[in-house]
Amino acid sequence: MSKILRYIERYIFFCLLIQKVIDIMIIEMYYNVDMTSLQYKKRGEIVKQIKLRENVFIPEIGFGTWKLEDQELAKNSVLFALQLGYRHIDTAMSYGNEEAIGQAIKESGIPRSEIFLTTKLSNDFRGRDATFRAFEQSLQRLQTDYVDLFLIHWPSPKKYRDHYKELNNETYKAMEELYFLGKIKALGVSNFLIHHLEELSTQVPVSVNQIEFHPYFTDWETIEYCQKHNMTIEAYSPLGRGQILKDPVIIKMAEKYQKSTAQICIKYALQNNIVPLPKSQTTKRIQENLNVFDFEISEEDIQILKSLNKDDGKIGSHPDYADF
Ligand SMILES: NC(=O)c1ccc[n+]([C@@H]2O[C@H](COP(=O)([O-])OP(=O)(O)OC[C@H]3O[C@@H](n4cnc5c(N)ncnc54)[C@H](OP(=O)(O)O)[C@@H]3O)[C@@H](O)[C@H]2O)c1
Repeated sequence: MSKILRYIERYIFFCLLIQKVIDIMIIEMYYNVDMTSLQYKKRGEIVKQIKLRENVFIPEIGFGTWKLEDQELAKNSVLFALQLGYRHIDTAMSYGNEEAIGQAIKESGIPRSEIFLTTKLSNDFRGRDATFRAFEQSLQRLQTDYVDLFLIHWPSPKKYRDHYKELNNETYKAMEELYFLGKIKALGVSNFLIHHLEELSTQVPVSVNQIEFHPYFTDWETIEYCQKHNMTIEAYSPLGRGQILKDPVIIKMAEKYQKSTAQICIKYALQNNIVPLPKSQTTKRIQENLNVFDFEISEEDIQILKSLNKDDGKIGSHPDYADF
């Protein structure tokens, strides 16, 4: 009897192995990418996971999805990213692509528990009831019963600016309720400056602050404050939306390390203990942006990248004055 079981076990193992090889061949042929350059070992092993304060693990690179508004493009880009090994997807109610992302996750066949999924409360919703309602709608669109990380997208929506502090507190309390119900695994905010964080009274401390970060814009004051208070920083627009990739200093550095300028920017975030969320809808770039684990930027070069920080380097809106 035990001999038969051993044969069955080997047979299953052999089938899984063949399936994996076929998977890789299909991806390589269909998308014309070289999986070996990603040091592909087994699904989900490409990107290291780091621990958030709630003991939840987050893959240290996420896949950004802003501007992926076309549903088919969004679905295919996320599906391709998941097939390549991304396990962390960043979306938001306001991106209009939660349905496509839910569908991509479903079609990927990857267990939900292996994917770290973030969405954000849009500026239209504040307060307890609206937060619950909006959150449930997001879950439905995403075809899931929980999210790994839920963020207040912006601290001070234009329409609530005169009483945003009370509303943020009420909203965050609702998020804590959802956290205690197990529907949110980690709580966070986005675009919060130090004063917004200090205005927030919390029972479950903020775990993540997602802010703009790239060589032209680094808000060290907020980053140091968050890191000191055990919050993980996520970098949005880590490639400066593509606008900083022609910088001559970054180009020279890319040549030195035989990497692309995008890879230098992604590595710059990682080496500052910041989780980058590069977005791309181009298969080659989606792959390139994950292929950053075979080099290290020297401390001297990190300092050179730090020196590129500019007073007018911010591309996104100012959290206190955003016009939406
Ligand atoms: N919390 C917030 O308020 C907030 C704000 C902004 C963004 N985010 C999040 O952060 C994510 C990333 O930020 P982002 O979308 O603003 O900008 P980004 O990731 O810095 O840059 C995206 C741009 O860079 C291009 N690109 C990507 N990889 C490239 C490569 N290897 N070489 C050359 N060009 C490349 C993309 O073009 P293609 O797509 O054409 O390849 C796209 O135009 C967003 O998608 C979103 O999830 C959050």
